[in-house]
Amino acid sequence: MRILTSYHHHTGKLSAPMKLAVISDVHNDAYEDLFPMIEGADVLLVPGDIANRYTQSCDRGLDFLRDASKRLPTFFSVGNHETRSKEYRKLISQIEQTGAEVLINRYVRFEEIWLGGWYEPDIVRVDDMLDEFEALEGCKVLMCHKPDQYMKKMRDLDLDLVVAGHAHGGQVRILNRGIYSPDQGLFPKYTRGVIDDRLIVSAGVSNPNHLPRWGNPCEVLMITLD
Ligand SMILES: [Fe+2]
Repeated sequence: MRILTSYHHHTGKLSAPMKLAVISDVHNDAYEDLFPMIEGADVLLVPGDIANRYTQSCDRGLDFLRDASKRLPTFFSVGNHETRSKEYRKLISQIEQTGAEVLINRYVRFEEIWLGGWYEPDIVRVDDMLDEFEALEGCKVLMCHKPDQYMKKMRDLDLDLVVAGHAHGGQVRILNRGIYSPDQGLFPKYTRGVIDDRLIVSAGVSNPNHLPRWGNPCEVLMITLD
Protein backbone atom coordinates (compact mmCIF):
# COMPACT_ATOMS: atom_id res chain seq x y z
CA MET A 1 0.00 0.00 0.00
CA ARG A 2 1.19 3.50 -0.84
CA ILE A 3 -0.10 6.51 1.02
CA LEU A 4 0.20 10.22 0.32
CA THR A 5 1.69 12.24 3.17
CA SER A 6 1.23 16.00 2.97
CA TYR A 7 3.40 18.66 4.57
CA HIS A 8 3.33 22.42 4.63
CA HIS A 9 6.73 24.09 4.86
CA HIS A 10 6.92 27.84 5.33
CA THR A 11 9.97 29.85 4.33
CA GLY A 12 8.48 33.30 3.67
CA LYS A 13 10.69 33.50 0.58
CA LEU A 14 8.21 32.69 -2.18
CA SER A 15 5.63 34.99 -3.75
CA ALA A 16 3.28 32.04 -4.34
CA PRO A 17 3.10 28.50 -2.91
CA MET A 18 4.80 25.71 -4.84
CA LYS A 19 3.80 22.06 -4.62
CA LEU A 20 6.73 19.66 -4.48
CA ALA A 21 5.98 15.98 -4.96
CA VAL A 22 8.66 13.65 -3.58
CA ILE A 23 9.01 10.05 -4.75
CA SER A 24 11.96 8.28 -3.21
CA ASP A 25 13.24 4.70 -3.32
CA VAL A 26 11.32 3.35 -6.31
CA HIS A 27 13.81 0.46 -6.43
CA ASN A 28 12.77 -0.60 -9.90
CA ASP A 29 9.27 -1.35 -8.67
CA ALA A 30 5.92 -0.74 -10.39
CA TYR A 31 5.18 2.96 -10.49
CA GLU A 32 2.01 3.59 -12.53
CA ASP A 33 -0.19 4.18 -9.48
CA LEU A 34 2.13 6.95 -8.29
CA PHE A 35 1.10 9.49 -10.93
CA PRO A 36 -2.52 9.96 -9.83
CA MET A 37 -1.15 10.62 -6.33
CA ILE A 38 0.98 13.55 -7.45
CA GLU A 39 -1.57 15.28 -9.63
CA GLY A 40 -1.43 19.03 -9.10
CA ALA A 41 2.27 19.06 -8.19
CA ASP A 42 4.42 21.79 -9.77
CA VAL A 43 7.57 19.71 -9.69
CA LEU A 44 8.72 16.18 -8.85
CA LEU A 45 11.79 15.49 -6.74
CA VAL A 46 13.30 12.01 -6.83
CA PRO A 47 16.01 11.83 -4.15
CA GLY A 48 17.61 8.57 -5.19
CA ASP A 49 17.27 4.81 -5.45
CA ILE A 50 15.25 4.30 -8.61
CA ALA A 51 17.51 1.24 -9.09
CA ASN A 52 17.63 -2.05 -7.21
CA ARG A 53 21.21 -2.99 -6.45
CA TYR A 54 20.33 -6.49 -5.24
CA THR A 55 19.03 -7.42 -8.67
CA GLN A 56 21.27 -4.89 -10.47
CA SER A 57 18.22 -3.67 -12.37
CA CYS A 58 16.83 -0.27 -13.25
CA ASP A 59 14.70 -0.70 -16.39
CA ARG A 60 11.45 0.23 -14.64
CA GLY A 61 13.21 2.97 -12.68
CA LEU A 62 14.28 4.53 -15.97
CA ASP A 63 10.76 4.15 -17.39
CA PHE A 64 9.43 5.86 -14.27
CA LEU A 65 11.67 8.91 -14.80
CA ARG A 66 10.83 8.95 -18.52
CA ASP A 67 7.08 8.90 -17.85
CA ALA A 68 7.36 11.38 -15.00
CA SER A 69 9.35 13.87 -17.08
CA LYS A 70 6.62 13.90 -19.70
CA ARG A 71 4.10 14.91 -17.05
CA LEU A 72 5.94 17.50 -14.97
CA PRO A 73 9.45 18.95 -14.39
CA THR A 74 11.39 16.11 -12.74
CA PHE A 75 14.68 16.32 -10.84
CA PHE A 76 16.74 13.35 -9.73
CA SER A 77 19.66 12.94 -7.35
CA VAL A 78 21.46 9.66 -6.76
CA GLY A 79 21.10 7.11 -3.98
CA ASN A 80 23.29 4.24 -2.88
CA HIS A 81 21.49 1.80 -5.15
CA GLU A 82 22.71 3.82 -8.13
CA THR A 83 26.24 4.26 -6.81
CA ARG A 84 26.40 0.52 -6.09
CA SER A 85 25.47 -0.30 -9.66
CA LYS A 86 28.19 -2.30 -11.37
CA GLU A 87 27.90 0.09 -14.31
CA TYR A 88 27.38 3.37 -12.50
CA ARG A 89 28.56 5.69 -15.30
CA LYS A 90 26.41 3.93 -17.88
CA LEU A 91 23.42 4.07 -15.56
CA ILE A 92 23.86 7.81 -14.99
CA SER A 93 24.04 8.45 -18.71
CA GLN A 94 20.83 6.42 -19.17
CA ILE A 95 19.17 8.47 -16.43
CA GLU A 96 20.30 11.68 -18.11
CA GLN A 97 18.49 10.58 -21.26
CA THR A 98 15.12 10.11 -19.54
CA GLY A 99 14.28 13.81 -19.57
CA ALA A 100 14.76 14.19 -15.82
CA GLU A 101 17.34 16.75 -14.74
CA VAL A 102 20.14 14.94 -12.90
CA LEU A 103 21.61 16.81 -9.93
CA ILE A 104 24.77 15.18 -8.62
CA ASN A 105 26.47 17.77 -6.44
CA ARG A 106 25.04 20.55 -8.53
CA TYR A 107 22.05 22.85 -8.43
CA VAL A 108 19.77 24.71 -10.78
CA ARG A 109 17.27 27.52 -10.59
CA PHE A 110 13.67 26.32 -10.82
CA GLU A 111 11.12 29.11 -10.76
CA GLU A 112 11.53 30.79 -7.36
CA ILE A 113 13.76 28.21 -5.72
CA TRP A 114 17.31 26.94 -5.91
CA LEU A 115 17.16 23.19 -6.26
CA GLY A 116 20.17 21.00 -5.57
CA GLY A 117 21.14 17.36 -5.24
CA TRP A 118 23.96 16.14 -3.01
CA TYR A 119 25.77 12.86 -2.50
CA GLU A 120 29.05 11.98 -0.78
CA PRO A 121 31.68 13.55 -3.10
CA ASP A 122 34.26 10.82 -2.55
CA ILE A 123 31.76 8.24 -3.80
CA VAL A 124 30.30 10.04 -6.83
CA ARG A 125 33.61 11.77 -7.55
CA VAL A 126 31.99 15.10 -8.16
CA ASP A 127 33.25 18.06 -6.12
CA ASP A 128 31.19 19.17 -3.17
CA MET A 129 28.92 22.13 -3.79
CA LEU A 130 27.47 22.65 -0.33
CA ASP A 131 29.44 25.85 0.44
CA GLU A 132 28.44 27.39 -2.87
CA PHE A 133 24.84 26.27 -2.47
CA GLU A 134 24.61 27.63 1.06
CA ALA A 135 25.90 31.03 -0.08
CA LEU A 136 23.04 31.49 -2.58
CA GLU A 137 20.41 34.12 -1.90
CA GLY A 138 16.81 32.92 -1.79
CA CYS A 139 15.00 29.68 -1.10
CA LYS A 140 17.31 26.64 -1.12
CA VAL A 141 15.87 23.15 -1.45
CA LEU A 142 18.25 20.20 -1.43
CA MET A 143 17.80 16.52 -2.18
CA CYS A 144 20.08 14.35 -0.02
CA HIS A 145 19.38 10.62 -0.22
CA LYS A 146 20.63 9.66 3.24
CA PRO A 147 19.18 11.41 6.30
CA ASP A 148 22.25 10.49 8.35
CA GLN A 149 24.36 12.56 5.93
CA TYR A 150 22.16 15.55 6.67
CA MET A 151 22.93 15.05 10.37
CA LYS A 152 26.66 14.88 9.64
CA LYS A 153 27.08 17.63 7.05
CA MET A 154 24.09 19.93 6.80
CA ARG A 155 22.64 20.51 10.22
CA ASP A 156 24.42 23.82 10.70
CA LEU A 157 24.01 25.07 7.15
CA ASP A 158 21.70 27.82 6.01
CA LEU A 159 19.24 25.75 3.96
CA ASP A 160 15.46 26.03 3.71
CA LEU A 161 14.41 22.46 3.07
CA VAL A 162 16.17 19.11 2.65
CA VAL A 163 14.36 16.02 1.38
CA ALA A 164 15.66 12.51 1.94
CA GLY A 165 14.67 8.85 1.66
CA HIS A 166 16.92 5.81 2.13
CA ALA A 167 15.75 4.70 5.57
CA HIS A 168 12.56 3.00 4.28
CA GLY A 169 10.73 4.14 7.39
CA GLY A 170 12.84 1.85 9.54
CA GLN A 171 11.37 -1.28 7.84
CA VAL A 172 9.18 -2.30 10.78
CA ARG A 173 7.56 0.43 12.86
CA ILE A 174 6.45 -0.05 16.44
CA LEU A 175 5.20 2.83 18.59
CA ASN A 176 5.94 5.22 15.71
CA ARG A 177 9.57 4.23 15.63
CA GLY A 178 11.56 2.27 13.05
CA ILE A 179 13.50 -0.87 13.94
CA TYR A 180 16.26 -0.88 11.35
CA SER A 181 17.63 1.24 8.53
CA PRO A 182 20.72 1.09 6.36
CA ASP A 183 23.63 3.20 7.71
CA GLN A 184 21.81 3.88 11.00
CA GLY A 185 21.49 0.26 12.08
CA LEU A 186 19.10 -0.89 14.80
CA PHE A 187 16.59 1.56 16.29
CA PRO A 188 17.45 4.36 13.85
CA LYS A 189 16.52 7.92 14.76
CA TYR A 190 15.85 9.39 11.32
CA THR A 191 13.47 7.23 9.32
CA ARG A 192 10.46 9.32 8.34
CA GLY A 193 8.81 12.66 9.05
CA VAL A 194 10.25 16.07 9.91
CA ILE A 195 13.58 16.61 11.68
CA ASP A 196 15.01 20.00 12.68
CA ASP A 197 11.86 21.62 11.23
CA ARG A 198 13.34 21.36 7.74
CA LEU A 199 14.54 17.86 6.93
CA ILE A 200 11.65 15.80 5.56
CA VAL A 201 12.35 12.08 5.27
CA SER A 202 10.19 9.87 3.07
CA ALA A 203 9.63 6.25 4.02
CA GLY A 204 9.99 5.49 0.29
CA VAL A 205 7.59 3.97 -2.21
CA SER A 206 8.78 0.38 -2.26
CA ASN A 207 10.63 -2.36 -0.46
CA PRO A 208 13.75 -3.87 -2.06
CA ASN A 209 14.52 -6.10 0.94
CA HIS A 210 13.44 -9.65 1.63
CA LEU A 211 12.28 -8.46 5.03
CA PRO A 212 8.65 -7.34 5.13
CA ARG A 213 7.60 -3.79 5.96
CA TRP A 214 5.21 -3.75 8.87
CA GLY A 215 3.26 -0.81 10.33
CA ASN A 216 5.13 1.21 7.77
CA PRO A 217 3.23 1.99 4.56
CA CYS A 218 5.15 3.11 1.50
CA GLU A 219 4.62 6.80 0.94
CA VAL A 220 4.68 9.62 -1.55
CA LEU A 221 5.16 13.13 -0.19
CA MET A 222 3.44 16.31 -1.25
CA ILE A 223 5.11 19.35 0.27
CA THR A 224 3.46 22.71 -0.10
CA LEU A 225 6.31 25.20 0.07
CA ASP A 226 5.58 28.85 0.64
FE1 LIG B 1 16.34 2.77 -0.79
